[in-house]
Amino acid sequence: MATLEIRIFGDPVLRQRAHEVEDFDGRLTQLAEDMLETMRAAPGVGLAANQVGVLKRLFTWEVEEEGGAVVNPTLLDADASEVEVDDEGCLSFPGLFFPVERPLRVEVGYRDLDGEERSVQLEGFNARVWLHEMDHLNGILFIDHLAKHDKREALKAMREYRMERGLEAPQTPKGPGSLLLGRKLR
Ligand code: NI
Repeated sequence: MATLEIRIFGDPVLRQRAHEVEDFDGRLTQLAEDMLETMRAAPGVGLAANQVGVLKRLFTWEVEEEGGAVVNPTLLDADASEVEVDDEGCLSFPGLFFPVERPLRVEVGYRDLDGEERSVQLEGFNARVWLHEMDHLNGILFIDHLAKHDKREALKAMREYRMERGLEAPQTPKGPGSLLLGRKLR
């Protein structure tokens, strides 16, 4: 096993849609194992393949001993009537936490590493983690769910984070308000 480099916000791969996994082979299992190790070392509770630069619909998660690898997830059901607001972070946004509203209960269909079809009902924090990771696979980031002023703060913090480490400036992210913000920060 090996730990992989976690991509930081500003890396274009985080804004790309990952592709369906078709080959459930040893390479996929190896990637999932490396991602689990990377996620635990970080430490974090979820990691999407985009975050290690791989555009496959795969994520790993682990919450209180429960977890594993999830492939080709699809949201089957989300109860929009019950939502929960809780602080959320992301390994691609080191040290940042902001409140995000998510459905309290979801049902997700997916495949395991052997390609077997499965479905699961999730609640509370687990639902939050899965929704966050499923967003990643579509190039959506948690800052896209934030209130305007929180998003502004997050983008500013990440610009500083990248500058301090000599990383190149984040590319202008998609989404309302981001263009204005990118200019303003210059
Ligand atoms: Ni994340």
